[in-house]
Amino acid sequence: MAVELKNREEIERMRVAGRLAAEVLDFIAPHVKPGITTGELDRLCHDYMVDVQRTIPAPLNYTPPGYSPYPKSICTSVNHVVCHGVPGEKKLRHGDIINIDITVIKDGFHGDTSRMFFVGQPSIQARRLVDLTHDCMWRGIRAVKPGNTLGDIGHAIQTHAEQQGCSVVREFCGHGIGRNFHEEPQILHYGRPGTGLRLEPGMTFTVEPMINAGKPDIRQMADGWTIVTKDHSLSAQWEHTVLVTEDGYEVLTVSAGMPAPPA
Ligand code: MF3
Ligand code: CO
Ligand code: CO
Repeated sequence: MAVELKNREEIERMRVAGRLAAEVLDFIAPHVKPGITTGELDRLCHDYMVDVQRTIPAPLNYTPPGYSPYPKSICTSVNHVVCHGVPGEKKLRHGDIINIDITVIKDGFHGDTSRMFFVGQPSIQARRLVDLTHDCMWRGIRAVKPGNTLGDIGHAIQTHAEQQGCSVVREFCGHGIGRNFHEEPQILHYGRPGTGLRLEPGMTFTVEPMINAGKPDIRQMADGWTIVTKDHSLSAQWEHTVLVTEDGYEVLTVSAGMPAPPA
């Protein structure tokens, strides 16, 4: 299967889905406080998507090959959880960092975005990792333009993370997105300049680096979904869905509450 280029109408629907996904993060932000459980965050987001936005939470019952159906509507990845944390009884505590990952379907198209949140006041190391990972995502996004390659995106992310003594998770990557949650191409968050697929206007994909404060190695938990760092070091992730335009990129997952891009 080749990479599908989106036409004008499809792009407009991707813009709507992207904005709605980002607005779920705006909605949940004030609820991310000590004492709330990740299950309660899931329930609040689920009800907002279904009852207010009339969107479909894409994760719910999502079943990639080799996986059991994902049981919740969002992913909540706390501290050393890298990604795909399953919401449950876990209460957030002062000083935790949490990634909330939202994917909605609207009018047949997907929007996928995640942000990091601080629960109360973060440690200096936690803030540094979260800010570094945000910078890494934006360096990747800023490498998006026709003629550049996927390797240029990965290289921009990897060099910045490693220069700061952190590491890039290899086992999970960004992905083409559209009518499907995950489609071609794979967007690796490491790589060499000028290698890999050449970018063309009309491509839509996510950039979603997972950066560990320690070693890059990960482990899957017994629930079959939750991914943690092997060395229990902190991990952070940010995600946007982007479109390749004639002269660069357009971020599709934009909203009023989206953190400002770095200077
Ligand atoms: N939203 C995640 C991504 O960025 C995928 C989550 S799959 C789920 O690709 F099933 F865990 F929701
Ligand atoms: Co994604
Ligand atoms: Co996501």
